[in-house]
Amino acid sequence: MQETQQRLDEARAQSQLGGGQRRIDAQHAKGKLTARERLELLLDEGSFTEWDAFVTHRCTDFGMQEQSIAGDGVVTGYGTIHGRQVFVFSQDFTVFGGSLSETHAEKICKVMDHAMRVGAPVIGLNDSGGARIQEGVASLGGYADVFLRNVMASGVVPQISLVMGPCAGGAVYSPAMTDFIFMVRDSAYMFVTGPEVVKTVTHESVSAEELGGAGTHSKTSGVADLAFDNDIEVLAQCRRLMAYVPNSNREAPPRRETLDPANRVEPALDTLVPSDPNKPYDMKELIRRVADEQEFFELQSDYAQNIIIGFVHIDGASVGVVANQPMVLAGCLDIDASRKAARFIRFCDAFSIPVLTFVDVPGFMPGTAQEYGGIIKHGAKLLYAYAECTVPKVTVITRKAYGGAYDVMSSKHLRGDVNFAWPSAEIAVMGPKGAVEIIFRQDRGDAEKIAEREAHYRETFANPLIAAQRGYVDDVIAPRDTRAQIAKSLTLLKTKRLENPWRKHGNIPL
Ligand code: HXC
Repeated sequence: MQETQQRLDEARAQSQLGGGQRRIDAQHAKGKLTARERLELLLDEGSFTEWDAFVTHRCTDFGMQEQSIAGDGVVTGYGTIHGRQVFVFSQDFTVFGGSLSETHAEKICKVMDHAMRVGAPVIGLNDSGGARIQEGVASLGGYADVFLRNVMASGVVPQISLVMGPCAGGAVYSPAMTDFIFMVRDSAYMFVTGPEVVKTVTHESVSAEELGGAGTHSKTSGVADLAFDNDIEVLAQCRRLMAYVPNSNREAPPRRETLDPANRVEPALDTLVPSDPNKPYDMKELIRRVADEQEFFELQSDYAQNIIIGFVHIDGASVGVVANQPMVLAGCLDIDASRKAARFIRFCDAFSIPVLTFVDVPGFMPGTAQEYGGIIKHGAKLLYAYAECTVPKVTVITRKAYGGAYDVMSSKHLRGDVNFAWPSAEIAVMGPKGAVEIIFRQDRGDAEKIAEREAHYRETFANPLIAAQRGYVDDVIAPRDTRAQIAKSLTLLKTKRLENPWRKHGNIPL
């Protein structure tokens, strides 16, 4: 008995030390924390309970039976964030480079299965050299077992990936299927094939950082939601994100009590929209002024900046915000913006988070690049996401709502629950210039006449009146009252019930 206890103690101590002090020092020298240090910062102090610390691999090839480290390169278990239960796995780069063996995968699957049963988020900390090369196909099987669970958990429990080291090859597909990906600048990278293979196949010379670093994925590809400077920042921001998401699709999102009055008046908003309709303004100013304590947790802030997505609390309730940004591409909807917002709306819908939409959109982006890239299909994603969404939807049109983009951006016709317009709203088929050019083609050479016609069109159509007369907007509100009106609407919609017709699943244009 004593002997057994001694062996257990030794194994536990070995598992605590992972690949040993030399490798821990190497990890620190790269500016990276160890798997356990990361969990300490991510979870509430002292809340981590570890499972499977004694698990070892079963590989006997390449002399692997001589090298077996308790825990097998991943630390798994559960703990709390802001007092709420979460499941975690944290890959330990000091053990075979955090590579995934059959048993490493089994450990991850175990916490994922438990998370599904009890209804708690899964947070994965990725830092791995990929498939354990010595294990071959057993490792591939392990990956597929994790992928399957990622898919089954999608929309049931939130899944968050913190990529804090290498994540390459097929391994990238596990984070790719999770709801949010945060990356660390300079130490994390994700790619399907690395720089050497790229060089051989396409003759391109590219560094790992350029190919799949945090900058690339947060700005160019949109694979990552956010990039941060170091491990500590990523972990802190993950804790912050958790304040907005529920534990599962069976629970309401967490509330954050606030002293910020729900009916706070914001006179500055009355002058936010410039009198010149072609002049931009910062939509984030509106989002912040409407939010509790002016706090906005923006996601994908460096990608497709013509649309803004993120979370706020309003009167204590968690709310997903989607907003056109007139400062970038005049707020046009393009392929990237449509995909970005559609996926976010679907996350909110899956997890009962109301969607608040601010509209200032001149239309879909014209051009061959967009058409050849499939804007028809990608724009349809956004339309589909808004239409199928059954959570409370509140919409505020601040200025332009033209053409198809008017329909798409949470309009009444797509089951927007409460739709407001500001007096500066322009709701029409198209802007005055384009409209006059088409209807009065015969006057093209006559600048004076065209200006006159444009002024007339603007007066007749570029306002919220016609839409309000038809009930397409429920009310035209003073900008300063926006927070109060939104808060009131969200309170009203708390008991909203709406179900889509039964089907196995819809066929969103992918
Ligand atoms: C086993 C591995 C490993 C792996 C790294 N190690 N990757 N062991 N399987 N996949 C070990 C190393 O042998 C080394 O052991 C330790 O981890 C640290 O590795 P280093 O190379 O010293 O570290 P570094 O210089 O930081 O380079 C990290 C790395 C590199 C870029 C990740 O190790 C690398 O290229 N590894 C191979 C990556 C790879 O090809 N993986 C398979 C991809 S295919 P010691 O004992 O010296 O500390 C794949 C398919 C998935 O993943 C498919 C899913 C469907």
